[in-house]
Amino acid sequence: MSYQILVAVDSMFKSISECSELVEFSLNGKLVQVPKGTNVAAAVLLESAVCRTTVVSNTARGPFCMMGVCFDCLVSIDGLANQQGCQTLVEPGMEVIVQRGAVEAERVDDYG
Ligand code: FES
Repeated sequence: MSYQILVAVDSMFKSISECSELVEFSLNGKLVQVPKGTNVAAAVLLESAVCRTTVVSNTARGPFCMMGVCFDCLVSIDGLANQQGCQTLVEPGMEVIVQRGAVEAERVDDYG
């Protein structure tokens, strides 16, 4: 099985929040700070826009609807796979990992 290489690029998404309180969490092992109240999908958009790759073709997917309908925002959160990033607020110390292809529904230990 081959995997598409996900290259982090500068996101074209910018936060419009003037919130002074930041929350720090881990995204693919990198510490990231976002305004308090940001959901995981928005935080991913600010950083890379890729949440997962598809099971069949490993095509990169990113948050689309931001309201819990499309499931293109699935990520692993604190070791639990297939979590909807748009339905989860970032919490301090949270570990978010991009999912690649098919993942175990129980637990994801790494993303490499
Ligand atoms: S962005 Fe569509 S379900 Fe989360």
